[in-house]
Amino acid sequence: MPFIHIPPGWKIPESRATPETVYIGLRGFLKTIGWGVAGAMGLWAGCGSGKSNPDAVATPIPATGSTADVSTTGDLYPARRNPRFGRLDRPLTSEYSASMYNNFYEVTTSKDVWRYVERFQTHSWQIEVSGLVEKPQVFDIDDLIRSMPLEERLYRFRCVEAWAMAVPWTGFPFRALLDRVQPKSSAKYVRLLTFFRPEEAPGQNAPWFPWPYYEGLTLAEASNELTLLAIGIYGRELPAQDGALIRLVVPWKYGYKSIKSIVSIELTAEKPSTFWNDEASNEYDFDANVNPYVPHPRWSQARERMIDTGEFRDTQLYNGYAPYVAHLYKT
Ligand code: MTE
Repeated sequence: MPFIHIPPGWKIPESRATPETVYIGLRGFLKTIGWGVAGAMGLWAGCGSGKSNPDAVATPIPATGSTADVSTTGDLYPARRNPRFGRLDRPLTSEYSASMYNNFYEVTTSKDVWRYVERFQTHSWQIEVSGLVEKPQVFDIDDLIRSMPLEERLYRFRCVEAWAMAVPWTGFPFRALLDRVQPKSSAKYVRLLTFFRPEEAPGQNAPWFPWPYYEGLTLAEASNELTLLAIGIYGRELPAQDGALIRLVVPWKYGYKSIKSIVSIELTAEKPSTFWNDEASNEYDFDANVNPYVPHPRWSQARERMIDTGEFRDTQLYNGYAPYVAHLYKT
């Protein structure tokens, strides 16, 4: 796929920008009337409503942030496709749609994230693994990637907003990283953290969100065969809008668990708090397992819409991955 340079779209036109005071006013208003009411009024998207139509955006393959000219791992692609995850029950989503329709609140709350990633510096990345491990370490991302068993996997991906896609990720199993740092027996959870650089990611200037974005898994979930740390998609490095340089992919959970642009992983004994659960605990729980029988308080989860074709499909329990993960939730 040739790289086509898109002119910088970083600066939001004045006409689109909302003054801070208005934001703060809205935030206070939302707290006052409650999230549910706000949602019903269409005031608050949260992780909860698709807005733009990707098919209406007539632009070729989107920008990839600042990595495009300084890539040092391009030679690793394409990675060998793992035959265990080499087929899906549906066609792959077009690369165009997967790159043009994103959730990345650090950048913008709208879906056209690709327009605003020009300043996002995705080179010289480091990731710290700390906490309850025998061998805490700060990894230079290039060294880490080159020392890991890279593979390509086709996964279904389901957002809590009821849109879905099917994409080829390149990455390595989370448990390969855990093997490197050797969790202590007291470790029960992992806490993951995104970068915090508001000068590069304008959404982080929104004071009402508890930046940086944070997520968590149980250690058993992180060690599951399905759990991937992804560094690429569609046979090339992750574009900035998809969570460069490294992101989580947990395909049986709603997409908000799949935290992007990770800089820190900490192993803990206590269950960590999570970004969306702290924002609206009645709407976004820690487990976040895809489940057609449990509606979101504001909409049904019984069906999902493919982002490129608009086709509707029945939602599958655990997003179709029950044979791999159902045992984790037996009580
Ligand atoms: N990670 C960070 N750091 N910030 C975010 O806003 N959004 C989450 C998740 N990871 C988000 C994030 C949500 S709600 C979804 S659905 C997926 O990213 C979307 O991934 P995609 O844009 O690659 O499709």
